[in-house]
Amino acid sequence: MSTSPKPVKKVPIHLQSAQNRVYIKNGEIVNHDKSFKADVYIEDGIIKFVGPSSEITIPGGVRTIDASGLMIIPGGIDPHTHMQLPFGGAVAVDDFYHGTKAAVAGGTTMIIDFVLPNKHESMIEAYDKWRSWADPKVCCDYGLHVGITWWSKSVSEEIGILCKELGVNSFKTFMAYKGLYQLNDSDLLDVFERIRHLNGVAMVHAENGDIIAKNTQRLLAEGINGPEGHELSRPEEVEAEAVHRACVLAHQMKTPLFVSGLTSKSSAELVGRARRSGYCVFGETLASSLGRSMSAVPKGDRIYAITSPPIRESAETPRQLMKSLAYDDLQLTGSDNCTFNKEHKALGKGDFTKIPNGVNGVEDRMSLVWEKGVHAGLLDPCRFVAVTSTNAAKIFNIYPQKGRIAVGSDADIVIWNPNATRTISKDTHHHACDFNIFEGMTVHGVCEFVLVRGRICAERGNVRVAEGFGRFIPTPVRPPFVYDIIEGKVQSQPEEQHEEKQNGSVAKRFAELD
Ligand code: URP
Ligand code: ZN
Ligand code: ZN
Repeated sequence: MSTSPKPVKKVPIHLQSAQNRVYIKNGEIVNHDKSFKADVYIEDGIIKFVGPSSEITIPGGVRTIDASGLMIIPGGIDPHTHMQLPFGGAVAVDDFYHGTKAAVAGGTTMIIDFVLPNKHESMIEAYDKWRSWADPKVCCDYGLHVGITWWSKSVSEEIGILCKELGVNSFKTFMAYKGLYQLNDSDLLDVFERIRHLNGVAMVHAENGDIIAKNTQRLLAEGINGPEGHELSRPEEVEAEAVHRACVLAHQMKTPLFVSGLTSKSSAELVGRARRSGYCVFGETLASSLGRSMSAVPKGDRIYAITSPPIRESAETPRQLMKSLAYDDLQLTGSDNCTFNKEHKALGKGDFTKIPNGVNGVEDRMSLVWEKGVHAGLLDPCRFVAVTSTNAAKIFNIYPQKGRIAVGSDADIVIWNPNATRTISKDTHHHACDFNIFEGMTVHGVCEFVLVRGRICAERGNVRVAEGFGRFIPTPVRPPFVYDIIEGKVQSQPEEQHEEKQNGSVAKRFAELD
């Protein structure tokens, strides 16, 4: 057997403007499926090389970053934002500039925002409006979901145009917001059927809007009109009932379903159960619910923490939701970033139904998931990457362009310091809002560098974004990650695999920690 060393193939690097070229050395690459030591070379926004330093020659003048002791991870993808959304009599104060600047500061290099048409508004017109708001302002790449806020033949036709011509593969339905966005079951079935026909992805905000309306009437009549009325009107089982119904409706139409913004244990368990029964369902939970319970928010501040589904009162919920991510009952974390200032929230003083819904999260999501997941011993770094980036890229069919450190992928990269800490505050955040739901929390996991398509946009706390640098990223239909499940090529989560997880090291670790 020959023992001569393998000849090293050197990758030639062409001299170009140094601004376009970055070399990151000595870091630990973490993808969702493995982590390993390697260097990364970037040219013109694309990853050109991943491997040992012995296999690449770097010319002078390239910006070199020493990532010794740091992790090189795919930039976060936040699949759930509402920048500058007109909602509840106000407009969300994080517009596409401030919102994406905050995203980048926290290590998120792509957002997927929701076009929410008004009732009887054309979806295409609403889509054009969102593009005209976002394109000149976005500091990182973005995609769009479109809300199906009403149902008609013209809406059905426009879904086809959005899928085939306008780069949208995902459509959000609402089982709540009666009189505004809510669809009934019959319409939901038609919508799901249409989405399936187009090989798209159905999304749902799952809360029972009829029960909420009834409870609200009763609570107001009883004189309960403060922010505590919000969760009282929509307790956990009101969320869980809708989650279960949505899973069944979508399953009957053979449509893949993304359940967005889950905030309670019972709902997460229902998604997990549906997945184990072979349903093609994915569940997202939110930074706010992973980071906070309402019981930890001072009474006088609760009005600022109102969002839907609600941040739950129970102090157990954040950890339970994190475990659901660890067990793969849930697959993603979003932020539902929809920020209002205190003066806007005050519109609902004396009537909780008038509090504009929404909180921050796009900036702090990555650190919070690290702190409450990895630092707490519930997630490993690969799972962290899966739930903050890769799973969103796969479900919305932009993988491996996004969500992976690999040759040919976009250079959306975070150089992550797992040991550094920072304390979250409204005084230092990059949002436009005057309140931060995580105020005062110290979190491990800090971005040393954030690269958006190769451009260094944040460097050791200095955020230097470029307004309009971000691009619209089309999300093509028929994501294989999703449709291979629907078409029976793979199971979403075979029962044996789940049992193994329950009995395996993760479960053991939980038992030790509990
Ligand atoms: O409460 C929230 N998150 N407001 C935005 C609309 C929604 O439900 O996504
Ligand atoms: Zn929602
Ligand atoms: Zn939302």
